[in-house]
Amino acid sequence: GMPPFSPAIVIGTGYGAAVTALRLGEAGIPTLMLEMGQLWNTPGADGNIFCSMLRPDERSMWFKRRTEAPLASFLWLDLANRDIRPHAGVLDRVHHGDMSVFLGRGVGGGSLVNGAMAVTPRRDYFAEVLPEVDADEMYGTYFPRANAELGVNEVDRDWFESCRSYAYARLSRKHAEKAGFTTAFVPSVYDFGHLEREEAQEVPRSALASEVIYGNNHGKLSLDKTYLAAALGTGNVTIQTLQEVRDITRQQDGSYTLSVRELNPDGGVLAVRQISTRHLFLGAGSVGSTELLLRARETGRLPDLDEQVGQGWGTNGNVMLGRANHMWDTTGTLQSGMPALGIDNWDDPVHPVFAEIAPMPAGLETWASLYLAITKNPERGHFTYDATTDSARLHWAESQGQPSIDAAKALFDRINRANSTIYRTDLFGDTRAFENRFTYHPLGGAVLGKATDLYGRVNGYRNLYVTDGALIPGSTGVNPFVTITALAERNIERVLAEDFA
Ligand code: FDA
Repeated sequence: GMPPFSPAIVIGTGYGAAVTALRLGEAGIPTLMLEMGQLWNTPGADGNIFCSMLRPDERSMWFKRRTEAPLASFLWLDLANRDIRPHAGVLDRVHHGDMSVFLGRGVGGGSLVNGAMAVTPRRDYFAEVLPEVDADEMYGTYFPRANAELGVNEVDRDWFESCRSYAYARLSRKHAEKAGFTTAFVPSVYDFGHLEREEAQEVPRSALASEVIYGNNHGKLSLDKTYLAAALGTGNVTIQTLQEVRDITRQQDGSYTLSVRELNPDGGVLAVRQISTRHLFLGAGSVGSTELLLRARETGRLPDLDEQVGQGWGTNGNVMLGRANHMWDTTGTLQSGMPALGIDNWDDPVHPVFAEIAPMPAGLETWASLYLAITKNPERGHFTYDATTDSARLHWAESQGQPSIDAAKALFDRINRANSTIYRTDLFGDTRAFENRFTYHPLGGAVLGKATDLYGRVNGYRNLYVTDGALIPGSTGVNPFVTITALAERNIERVLAEDFA
C-alpha cells in the first residue's frame, strides 16, 4: 500500500532542523521530525538524565564499548575513559582515517553535548566566508533573532572577577595579557545566573559538577528547552526518536519517500519503514546531511544531485592544546565546564586565532591550562561514497591540520615565552602538544551557493533543502551554532514565502 504521508519532514533535531520545524509549525504546516537519537528527559537509576564526564556510563556515547573523551590521557595515563555497555548514548565520535568528528545524538542534536558558547561571527569574516549572503540582513535581523530565541546571555563581570568557577580563565587571561594579547568574553546559552547559584550551592551543580560533552542535567538552554519546545507548542510539529533515515527516493509526482530504520536503543534495527513527504528538509548536520545526499546520488536514487555534494568540508580550524603552569599559578579545583573567555587574536594578519579558554574539570588541581583554538585553516576535505559499507567516507589527511597547528603555535609560543611556561605533552595519548585529529565543529559538505541555491534549496530537485552546518564552507572563525541558527532562520523565511504559496 501507500506509505504514510507528512506534508513536511525535517531530518534531525539540531540547530538547523529546530529552526526550520518551528517556522513551519508556526505557518500551520504539519511537520514530522525524524531523529536517530533518544529523547533525553527521563532520569536513570541515579536520578540524573545525563552522566558526568568523570563517571561515564552507557548514557555517554553512541554505541561504543569504551568512552572516547577528547583528552585521551593525563600524565600519559588513560584516566578519563571507561568501558561501557553499547547503547544509544548522547555523544558520538565518528572516525574517518586521520580525522574524527564529535557529534551530538538525541533530541536537540549538538546542543545536548556542546559547551554552550554562543558567538556571533565577526561581520568582516562572515562576509568573507559567505559573500553572496546579505550581511546587512544577517546582522540586522537574523543574528539578533537567533540570539533571542536561543536565550544567549553573558556572565556578570563583577562575579566573574571574584568567583572560584573561572579562576582558570582569569589565570589564562593573565598569561595572555603578559604576552600582549587581549581576551574577549564569550556569550553562552548556559544560564550564568544558574552557575552563580551553583557556586553558592543554592541549586544542584551541573557545569560545576564536571557535566559537559555527555550532557548537562541543569542550567543549559539546549534546543529541547528553546526552539524545539516552541515548535511542539505550535501543535503542528511531531518528533519521532530512534528513527534513522537511510535512503531518499523521489516519486513521479515529485514527492519524496524515505526509508527509515527504527533503532533499538540497546543495538540493532527493530524495523525498516517508508514514509513520504512533499517538502523534505535535511538537518542531520554537516556529516549526516552530506552522507544522505551523497548516498542518494551515488546509488542512483537522486542522480541529478550536484557534483558539489560532498565537497567543501572543514574543521573550523579546530586544534586543542594544553600549557603547564608554574606551581604558584593554580587553576582551582572548581572549574565551570562552560567556557566564558577567549583569547582574541583574529586580527593577526598571518595567523588569525580565536582560542577559547577551556576547563579541565577534573575536580583536582591539574596545573594545566587547556585551549580549543579556532584558526583560519584554508584546507578542505571531501566525502566519497563507499558502496561496500553504504556510507560516506571523509578524505582529510593529518597534514591538512598543520595550518591550524602553525597558527596556534605562533600564539602560544609567545604566551609560553612571556610566562616561562611550556606545553603539556601528556594529554593526547602520545607526546604531541597539539591535537588536530578531531573536530567539534564539522562544517560543509553541501555548501550554500554550490550544492544548493543561496537559500539551501538543493540543486537538481524541487522541495528538497539543506538547513544545517553542511551549508557553511568549512569555517566561521568562531563556535558555529549561532551562525547555523541565523542562516537557517534566513533561509526558511524565504522558502516559506516562495515555496509554500
Ligand atoms: P547537529 O549535529 O546539531 O544535529 C544533527 C542531528 O541529526 C543530530 O541530533 C543527529 O542525531 C541527527 N541525525 C543525523 N543523521 C541522521 C539520520 N540519518 N536520521 C535521523 N537523524 C539523524 N558549537 C558552538 O557554537 N559552541 C560550543 O560551545 C560548541 N561546543 C561543542 C562541543 C562538543 C562536544 C560538540 C560535539 C560540538 C560543539 N559545538 C559547539 C558544535 C555545535 O554543537 C554544532 O556545530 C551544531 O550542533 C551543529 O548543528 P547542526 O544543525 O548542523 O546539526
